[in-house]
Amino acid sequence: MTRYARYFLAAGVASCLMGGLARADKPADPAAVSSEDGKYADKDGRPTFNVGKDGKVDFYTYIGYVRYTANCMHCHGPDGLGSTYAPSLVNSLKSLDYADVMTTVANGKKDVSESSQLVMPSFGENKNIMCYIDAIYIYLRARSVDAIPRGRPQDHEPKPKDFSETEDSCMG
Ligand code: HEC
Repeated sequence: MTRYARYFLAAGVASCLMGGLARADKPADPAAVSSEDGKYADKDGRPTFNVGKDGKVDFYTYIGYVRYTANCMHCHGPDGLGSTYAPSLVNSLKSLDYADVMTTVANGKKDVSESSQLVMPSFGENKNIMCYIDAIYIYLRARSVDAIPRGRPQDHEPKPKDFSETEDSCMG
């Protein structure tokens, strides 16, 4: 085997490994496999959306839309589509996992490599956001795979039985 052949073989193995890692990093299949009190989960137990054949969404997707619009839209644009200032979260969630979103929203993010100062604030102390972060994630996850169109969801499942209680105890 020539030196070059060995080089290409090694490069091939390395890119296979990297490809494998990149795939493993991708968000898991968003299909809902279980639900508890109106909140759906994927096969890894991560929060996910549920959209009925009639387009009716689960309650969390709906609340996520409302909370996204109130707290994130002024930077990230309507329907998660991005703005001149902040990236499209519809795109970001094609590669970011639940844990990535949690970390960024709680701790913030500052792109120091950009000449413009891009700052994602940290919301870890903001109950109006952290108490609804699963709902916001669920809504954006649905948007990122085109499960729901732009705009306010037209119809949603009823409010889960314990939703208000959980909300009140989180908001303190
Ligand atoms: C004050 C403007 C502002 C607000 C409000 C804001 N963001 Fe951001 N966000 C940014 C900017 C700017 C970035 C890009 C930061 C960077 O690249 O370093 C960002 C980045 C992110 C990222 C990482 C995207 C990626 O591809 O890495 C996530 C996730 C995110 N924001 C979620 C949210 C959510 C959810 C909300 C609402 C709860 C929110 N943001 C509210 C400005 C904002």
